[in-house]
Parts: sequence; C-alpha cells; structure tokens
Amino acid sequence: MAKHYEALQRAEAERKRKAGLGPEPSGSAAVGWDTTPHSAPKPKRRVRKLFRNASESVSNAEDSANELNKRRVAILQPESFASEQFRMLRGRIDALATQQKLQTVAVTSANPGEGKSTASINLAVVTAMSVGRKVLLVDCDLRRPKVHKTLGLAPQSGLAEVLLQSSTFEDSVINVDSLGLDVLCVRSLPGNPSELLASAQMKQMLAMAAEVYDQIILDTPACLGLPDSKTISELSDGILVIVRADVTRKEDVDAVLEILDRRRLIGMVLNGVEASGSQYGYY
Ligand SMILES: Nc1ncnc2c1ncn2[C@@H]1O[C@H](COP(=O)(O)OP(=O)(O)OP(=O)(O)O)[C@@H](O)[C@H]1O
Ligand SMILES: [Mg+2]
Repeated sequence: MAKHYEALQRAEAERKRKAGLGPEPSGSAAVGWDTTPHSAPKPKRRVRKLFRNASESVSNAEDSANELNKRRVAILQPESFASEQFRMLRGRIDALATQQKLQTVAVTSANPGEGKSTASINLAVVTAMSVGRKVLLVDCDLRRPKVHKTLGLAPQSGLAEVLLQSSTFEDSVINVDSLGLDVLCVRSLPGNPSELLASAQMKQMLAMAAEVYDQIILDTPACLGLPDSKTISELSDGILVIVRADVTRKEDVDAVLEILDRRRLIGMVLNGVEASGSQYGYY
C-alpha cells in the first residue's frame, strides 16, 4: 500500500521539479452547465414524508457560485489545463478498458471534501464529449449529495426514490442536453442510506443501467468510517481513489486501500496540486 502513496509523492515531486519548485525524483504525470430534466412524476406522499430534501443538506457556503464553479472545470473552462488533465485521465481509463471491463467506475476518497464529486462530475463531462458514447453519472452520496447543485439540476426524484421504487429509473434520470450527459441525482435523503446502497435494488439498477450506458460513473461518499463507499465499489468494475494534495494523510490512503477490493483499483488521482495552472494530478 505504501507504494501507492509513495508513487503519488513522486508524482508531486516531479511536478514541482518541472515547475522549478523542488528536487528531482522519478517520473509520473499531472491532472483539477443548461439542463433539460425528463418529466418525472412527483414522489408518493408517503415517501416524501420520510425524507429530507437533498437541497436542504447543502450549506449556504457550499452553495456559493464560486464553490459550485470550482467543481465545473470541464464545463466552464474546457480549454483549461485542468480540463486537459481530466481528458488525459479519461484517456488512461480508456487505455485500461482495453484490458479489463471498466464500464462502471466508482470515485471515492478517504475523507470528506477531498474532491470526489469534482472528479466524478468532470470525468463524466469529458467522457460524455466522446461522440457516440452514452454516459451516466450517478450521485451515490445519499448523505451529502452535491451533483445536482453543481450541475444546477432540480430533480423531482432521485436515487433514493428509484431504490425505494417510488419512482422509476427512466423518470428520475435527467438528461443534461448541453453536455450530452445523463445524471441520476439525489433528491431526498433517506434515513437508511447504507441499507439502500447495499440493497438488491441498487444492484439491479446498475445492471439495468449497464445495458443502456457505455460508461457509468458513481460519485460516492468518503470511504473511511462509512460502509457506503465499499458497498458501491463492489458493484463497480473499477475504483478511482482521490487523494487531496497536502491534505490526505498517508495512513488514510493506506486504510482506504485495505478496505477496498484492490483488484478493482484502477488508479489514484492527486487533487489540489497548485502549479502550471493545474490543480489536479493523477498517478
Ligand atoms: N483541485 C481543487 N482546487 C480547489 N478546490 C477544490 C479542488 N477540488 C475540490 N475543490 C473544492 O473542495 C470542496 C470539496 O470538493 P468536492 O465536493 O468535490 O469533494 P468531495 O470529496 O466530493 O466532498 P464530500 O466528501 O463532502 O462529498 C469543494 O468546495 C470543491 O470546489
Ligand atoms: Mg462529494
């Protein structure tokens, strides 16, 4: 496990060297919306009473335009270096996908706030730009969902409603026409998120989605301290682990790698790197 973290450190040191900021190590590379909802039926009254609305869970600070814009790199600045890094990450995943099935990719990290949603959204956006590719982004964070806010969506139903069968998958998926991307957001926060994510319905829903979409990207909650991320990752073909530069502790990266199925681990993304105009790095 330590070798993964050391590789990230080498990547960061290499990046600093190239930017004239540090000593020379060995190699690696660096990586940092109008909407059209489908018409969806209102969730049944019984179900709505059981939930809080997802939009209530996001604080005002997190709602600020600046905060939202930070997660929209590939949409607002498609020519930026950070967007280019997401396209490179996309390319790396495509290359790996020639050797192993990577139709469903879960994005996770050790702790909250390390950039999972930012990476998921931008990866989905750059993937959806590939002509002829059907891409679905699923917000699997039933506790602190961010995808809908970031993309400016107002879902009438979402993942919890689909899993509780109070709404259908087709009615809950929002087609973001301008991005060529389909998104299943979180509308309501259920009282039993872990159980829902571990349910047979979740498995069935992803199996059904896999028949329709070429690429499914799952934005998950933090891995440490909650079972959700591990549960979701076991329903995925590949797992990307986000590591926030100068924030995520080595011990936490090691712990994540102990928890997750390493056979599914496809890479680690170093997020928050400040140089060469980029805030994203990958290993
Ligand atoms: N590379 C970056 N540079 C600057 N800000 C960033 C970067 N990556 C993420 N952020 C900001 O950090 C905050 C957390 O990012 P994000 O929501 O993507 O993390 P998360 O891991 O999904 O969080 P959570 O665990 O709460 O779901 C956001 O305000 C986001 O804009
Ligand atoms: Mg998130």
